[in-house]
Amino acid sequence: MAAVQLALRCAGNPGDEVIIPVPCWLDYPLYTRFLGLSPVLVPLSGQEFDVDAAAIFDAMTSQTCAVLLSHPSNPAGRNYSWASVSALAQVLERAAARTGRVVTLIADETHRDFTAPEAYCSMARAWPASFIVYSFGKYHFLQGQRTGYLAVSPRHPRRSAVAAEAVRWARIAAFCAPTALMQAAVPELLALRHDLTQVERGRASVSAALRDAGYHVVPAEATLFLYVATPDGRNDFAFIRDLAAAAVLALPAPLFHHRGHFRLSLTAGPRTLERVVAALRKVAAA
Ligand SMILES: Cc1ncc(COP(=O)(O)O)c(C=O)c1O
Repeated sequence: MAAVQLALRCAGNPGDEVIIPVPCWLDYPLYTRFLGLSPVLVPLSGQEFDVDAAAIFDAMTSQTCAVLLSHPSNPAGRNYSWASVSALAQVLERAAARTGRVVTLIADETHRDFTAPEAYCSMARAWPASFIVYSFGKYHFLQGQRTGYLAVSPRHPRRSAVAAEAVRWARIAAFCAPTALMQAAVPELLALRHDLTQVERGRASVSAALRDAGYHVVPAEATLFLYVATPDGRNDFAFIRDLAAAAVLALPAPLFHHRGHFRLSLTAGPRTLERVVAALRKVAAA
């Protein structure tokens, strides 16, 4: 995801630290290290995987240049409330007062279009020094086309300079340059809306069926995924192998820098999802 790399390049210098709430999208720490920055992994809080503003504040040092998170969150599927978003902005304000450094908030909004209308609060509303990252890959089912963008908040205190720096980095890192196809597609894609009824039905019915089968399912309001606790005492990878033997492919939590869970995708049709639930019932009982 080129836009995350551009955002990190603009936010800090080698040796700086980036706070990453976990579980997180799997490649954030990889990109961070590749750029000579140090990832500092801070757990999301509790069984509902909310942003833990106090833990983020405690993890911040004078070396912290950015907080990088997906909102809504992948893999947990949470759409953070305004209370969570503003609590995070408040600790960034306190950290700036403590260290004298304005920390950049990099919000990956790739899954924002899976939220209910009017139910989404962008981080950029709460913290001026924000970068928004977006991929058209999920909402438009264009995975692998690498079509997306990095936007600097209009309220960023150094907006023009930072935006110019992002353009320069896009030229230097040639893989970040938008293709002609992408440039032509973006205005159309921004206007295109889809009916999400099937995804929402799948999320509700699979969550309910798995809870009925004894699984703990993280309450999800967004994304194409469900994040589910691995049944007690089972090893994450062994459990995923058992699921694969039952013809269900899922991703284990360690890929998201976490443990004790797995991520299921809801992109299949209703009949396939029913088969997935039946297989999960069987594997849980085994
Ligand atoms: C939160 C998040 N960010 C970034 C990406 C990468 O998007 P793309 O593959 O379209 O570059 C994904 C895809 O899985 C994602 O879920």
